[in-house]
Amino acid sequence: MGPTPSAAPRRLGKTDLSVGPIAYGCWRFAGSGVPTAREKIETALDLGMTLIDTADIYGCDDGLGVGASETLLGEVLGDAPELRRRMVLATKAGIVIGTPYDSSGAHLRQSCEDSLRRLRTDVLDLYQIHRPDWLAHPARVAETISELRQAGKIREFGVSNHTAAQFEALQAHLPFAIATHQPELSALVLDPLHDGVLDQCLRVGATPLAWSPLAGGRLGLPLDEVRSRPGGERLAAVIEVLDRLADVRGATRSAVALAFLLAHPAGIVPIVGSQRPERIRECAEATGVELTRSEWYDVVEASRGEPLP
Ligand SMILES: NC(=O)c1ccc[n+]([C@@H]2O[C@H](COP(=O)([O-])OP(=O)(O)OC[C@H]3O[C@@H](n4cnc5c(N)ncnc54)[C@H](OP(=O)(O)O)[C@@H]3O)[C@@H](O)[C@H]2O)c1
Repeated sequence: MGPTPSAAPRRLGKTDLSVGPIAYGCWRFAGSGVPTAREKIETALDLGMTLIDTADIYGCDDGLGVGASETLLGEVLGDAPELRRRMVLATKAGIVIGTPYDSSGAHLRQSCEDSLRRLRTDVLDLYQIHRPDWLAHPARVAETISELRQAGKIREFGVSNHTAAQFEALQAHLPFAIATHQPELSALVLDPLHDGVLDQCLRVGATPLAWSPLAGGRLGLPLDEVRSRPGGERLAAVIEVLDRLADVRGATRSAVALAFLLAHPAGIVPIVGSQRPERIRECAEATGVELTRSEWYDVVEASRGEPLP
């Protein structure tokens, strides 16, 4: 296969922004004090995880309300303003609890202001539509995004949970390139290999950001526990392959699982979500793990549950 995935920064889409090959995500971030939160962000940045991904609604799943994760990250930045210069700050808008999606101009403009205030920053480096709103015409969404960009409130723009066709529809109305596509993607969830999203990234040069790259922690479970679960056969098969590849290298399973994503030619940036500094460090070791071509396909076949033709 190619060379060992490099730890060097890489370009985000066709933009002037460069980021580390692994990103850090703040979905599970809300709920601690500022010192603990600051330690996680500093750990990630020190390891070269310079893209920090959050969203307006992060914190809601923990019962802490809209903006809780952004607010805590803003407090970290208030405490240590120098960290802002070391990160590419990404957030998202467009999910409204109870609606559930709103990408109207009024909502996006308000959400952007709210995120800027909570994050204590003048500009959002990457602004993403969190999920597509079927009631928002892509031309109107593009107008709003262009307006926010012209006003200097956002630097670059990306989408999350969009199909390739939805990305295309939005791109058709935008005067600049969409920088990022953020699907769920891991050794367990391989849909973007087949649904056109990674092919589109390869074609247009957008950067794929993989959310839940350890399948939200399922890839971190003990093998025995997974084996004893009803329906756990496919997950167990993936873990067995990852463990085999980890053993021969003296690497951790999570590093191998992330190296599997890093090996794809689209330049996938996995967004790790652990809240434990020691596990964030283990994840960073992925940049030193090289899989052979046949090992990479072993992971794919275990994930499919059947051999490739
Ligand atoms: N766009 C979207 O719709 C969307 C949706 C979901 C997530 N995201 C983004 O993706 C980021 C990552 O998502 P995620 O948190 O589900 O990612 P993940 O890295 O797949 O999972 C992290 C979870 O796995 C657990 N885990 C278990 N064993 C682990 C190990 N050995 N190493 C690391 N973690 C282990 C972590 O627990 P500990 O904390 O105890 O280590 C944590 O709860 C989010 O923060 C967010 O930025 C985006």
